[in-house]
Amino acid sequence: MNDRYQTLTSLPAVLRGGDYNPDQWLDRPDILEQDIRLMHEAGVNTATLGVFSWTAYERADGEYDFAWLKERMDALYAAGICTELATPSGAKPNWLAKANPEIRRVQVDGRRDKQGRRHNHCYSSPVYRRKVAQLLERLCDAVGDHPGLIAWHLSNELGGACHCPLCAERFRTWLRRRYHNDIDEVNKAWWTGFWSHIYTDFDQIDPPFDNGEQSVNGLLLDWRRFTTWNAADYLDTEIEVLRRRTPNIPLTTNFMSYYPGFDYHVLAQKLDFVSWDAYPQWGEPGHDDTDVAIRTAFEHALIRGCKPGRPFLLMECTPSLVNWHAYNKLKRPGVNRLAGLQAVACGADGVQYFQWRAGRGGVEQFHGAVVGHDGRSDHRVFRDVTALNEDLGRLAGVCGSYTQAGAALLFDWDSRWALEDAWGFQKQDKKLRECAVRLYAGLNRHGVDVEVLGPEAGWETYPLVVLPMLYLTKPGFAQRLDAYVRSGGVAVATYMLGYVGPTTLAHLGGFPGEGLKDLFGVTAREIDTLYPQDQNAAIWGDGANTPIVDYCELLELADDTEVLARYADDFYEGTPAVTRRAVGRGAAYYIGARLDAVGDERVLCRALRDAGLPDELLPDGIEYHCRRNGTERWHFYLNTAEKPRRVRLPAGVEALTGRPVGGEEELSALGAAVVREGR
Ligand code: GLA
Ligand code: ZN
Repeated sequence: MNDRYQTLTSLPAVLRGGDYNPDQWLDRPDILEQDIRLMHEAGVNTATLGVFSWTAYERADGEYDFAWLKERMDALYAAGICTELATPSGAKPNWLAKANPEIRRVQVDGRRDKQGRRHNHCYSSPVYRRKVAQLLERLCDAVGDHPGLIAWHLSNELGGACHCPLCAERFRTWLRRRYHNDIDEVNKAWWTGFWSHIYTDFDQIDPPFDNGEQSVNGLLLDWRRFTTWNAADYLDTEIEVLRRRTPNIPLTTNFMSYYPGFDYHVLAQKLDFVSWDAYPQWGEPGHDDTDVAIRTAFEHALIRGCKPGRPFLLMECTPSLVNWHAYNKLKRPGVNRLAGLQAVACGADGVQYFQWRAGRGGVEQFHGAVVGHDGRSDHRVFRDVTALNEDLGRLAGVCGSYTQAGAALLFDWDSRWALEDAWGFQKQDKKLRECAVRLYAGLNRHGVDVEVLGPEAGWETYPLVVLPMLYLTKPGFAQRLDAYVRSGGVAVATYMLGYVGPTTLAHLGGFPGEGLKDLFGVTAREIDTLYPQDQNAAIWGDGANTPIVDYCELLELADDTEVLARYADDFYEGTPAVTRRAVGRGAAYYIGARLDAVGDERVLCRALRDAGLPDELLPDGIEYHCRRNGTERWHFYLNTAEKPRRVRLPAGVEALTGRPVGGEEELSALGAAVVREGR
């Protein structure tokens, strides 16, 4: 772990706080004073300042005022509260946008935004970059050496893409570099002979406007890669100033869970630690909160895995409700606590809220906040937050430790994008996330925590690796996977493995391409997409029958491939649906159809045994996570069910209560136990 991250972990505490906008209350010193008092009462130890404060810092071009910020940071620090300082580039001042139309984003329909809202500037604009850099220099002059400053929060929820002429030109320049200035290399990579879309000059290439080029998959994928690159390049403008001026302060930015817009594996490389904003829809009709919980756990793992080996920060969540769902339901009693503990269980070193205090106006006036418009501390939400903060206070020792995963799950943004943009299969929603969450959940039910990694990361250290719908594969991957399995690794892949290469061209010679079919001993000759009302079934070796929906691949097997299940129905009745092939000291499983949880379970159970991992199931609704620090392990058992559950705990000390435990215990509905073992 580098020194900068230690600035943060040297605070011997889980970070507890949230977005705080004192600049909206500067005419109310009584409220500012009340904030400090209430933060103290709630056990807050950090505040995120300045997220949207650009105009409060710079009301007119070059006229800066950081006095209010310094005063607030001083007052917070005096009360034992540190500051994560945002760079305010997430929203631009009116005066700047009026004077410089180029900084306003051009949307996918080709229209330039009017000024308003937020997160809608052009990442390419030299004016924007220059103005941000100038501001950051002055911000560093003002508070760069403030003792309360513990982290920089870069911009806020970076997102979206600009399609302006500047961005289009940068896209072409990026393509020229990538394709050695050779337009025919582009034509080959993108298969542009299709529909006569051959380019004869780079100048003919435009971003994929929604009424423009939408039929060249390679272009769509490269545009998404460029968009990530351009946002990262923009971030460099901020990073250059902050690294130079405050070399010891760690940098992060808040990611947005399963956000499609950027490759977070790439953006994370710019950061000292990652953080994200979690807004799961608890209590959504038709969805069990156990499912919501495990999907959130997967997302924690997805973000954590962007910076393997390092804890992350839950930058935002709501203490009660949001304002942007169609129906804004309150978090029921107990949910906030469980969700906060879950974040820490999954590797977070902090749980912070949007927002500390509700503003009086603007569209977020009725968004949940720790302190509401009544300014009181004797209501449910404030008390819930305070109680969770007390719990988090008891988990201080967990800071700096990392998830101890038993298995890896491979997730790749390029592959996701290529799959989502592909025409075919279920055209609108291929359900990659569901597929990944299902496998993640299946492993978790066995008490196996899962690390979500990109295919380029070091997944070989895990005895088991799962590959949900890894549709796009890059050169060298198959050889790595092959070597891994031969030396004892266990791989579990699903349908749609290795259909296309890095520029979305279909692999020739059968799927999965690139040697993967030899490893799995499987060739997917065809894929049948089922209508939502249709079902097939898998018939297993022991005669059991489990449902299949959505996808059925028609598989051809190598001689030494074992059939685990066959199709029950349709013209491919009796042909293989799920297989296993013993390879070297390991095994390669192939799931050719979308099974239900019971079907997945049958595969995972055997794969876990092959990998030497536990194959015993936890009680329904119990989620398990583990963090490790040297010889010390922190086992988290979360009861996401609405009923009490009995669970067998390892021997150790239950950290929330200080009790020695070991053996069976009952966890109340939405209850949790955190067992510290081996101190
Ligand atoms: C996002 C933003 C916050 C706020 C919340 C509301 O996460 O970062 O500024 O708008 O959503 O839920
Ligand atoms: Zn632009």
